[in-house]
Amino acid sequence: MSGHDEVREIIAGALAADDGPVLFLTGAGISAESGIPTFRGPEGYWRVGSRNYHPQELATFASFREMPAEVWSWYLYRRAVCRAAEPNAGHRALVALEQTLDGAGEGERFRLVTQNVDGLHQRAGSRRTWAIHGNIDEMRPVAERHGTPARRAPIPARFDDWRKGQRLTPAELDTLRVEGKAARPHVLWFDESYDEPNFHFESARRAAQRASMLVVVGTSGATNLPMQIALLVARRGRPAIVIDPAPNPFSEITTQTGHGAFLRGTAGEHVPWVCDEIATALLPADRRER
Ligand code: OAD
Repeated sequence: MSGHDEVREIIAGALAADDGPVLFLTGAGISAESGIPTFRGPEGYWRVGSRNYHPQELATFASFREMPAEVWSWYLYRRAVCRAAEPNAGHRALVALEQTLDGAGEGERFRLVTQNVDGLHQRAGSRRTWAIHGNIDEMRPVAERHGTPARRAPIPARFDDWRKGQRLTPAELDTLRVEGKAARPHVLWFDESYDEPNFHFESARRAAQRASMLVVVGTSGATNLPMQIALLVARRGRPAIVIDPAPNPFSEITTQTGHGAFLRGTAGEHVPWVCDEIATALLPADRRER
């Protein structure tokens, strides 16, 4: 049986079994073909003085407290890289599926959870989306208490074309404020925890507990909530379709449980046809027009 036939059978079985949402979980890999370096890939480091920092060292509240201008400079550079990138076929296929289902009154059967802060899903047109690690285009007050809804604001356009190595001056740092209060990037840091108001923690877990199936695209499984999502779906015996050029903990779960399939390859190769198969399984031909 070909990969397509096997996946077609898995999807048909999953969607016939119950009416929960098809839950998509994406990571940096879905944006790789847009030219945005993945998080743990060879995308290098950020130099501060004579020292090289890796993302995991800089993306922390502790580093921000110690050197706010340096951490802001790094985020402004990464934001410029994200703004220069365009959504790719993987992002667009998810939008087409969401819109087809919405058009047929079945929008509730689509939900996207993304770890990406690059904003490409949103720019492509995805709406039923929870960004569980925040958004690099936004900032919020530093002093905000964990678990309270953040007063977010867009990062001002004067910072749009930030270059690698460009440093924020103290005067520029002082202008990064929300409602007069010193601000920080609205991104979840390694030494911080998820919450519901800002990172949809409970909502994402509830969606996993209702999902008919899970589609995982381009994530290495190094983070907590995404792994909880995959395990919640697997424990209910629901299948996962895992798309990645390399095996990862998510593909390992499908191998161990026998529920689902691992499609070795890129998002661009597999997301479009998997989305088409889901639309076909959910909607009879006459309801697929949108
Ligand atoms: P990683 O860099 O850890 O993993 C990227 C995944 O994408 C790997 O499994 C790659 O094999 C895969 N990949 C690479 N190119 C791909 C392509 N063209 N198509 C599909 N997959 C491809 O990035 P994430 O797993 O997203 O969190 O990292 C998760 C989180 O770790 C990030 O959101 C960040 C970090 O902590 C925060 O910033 C809070």
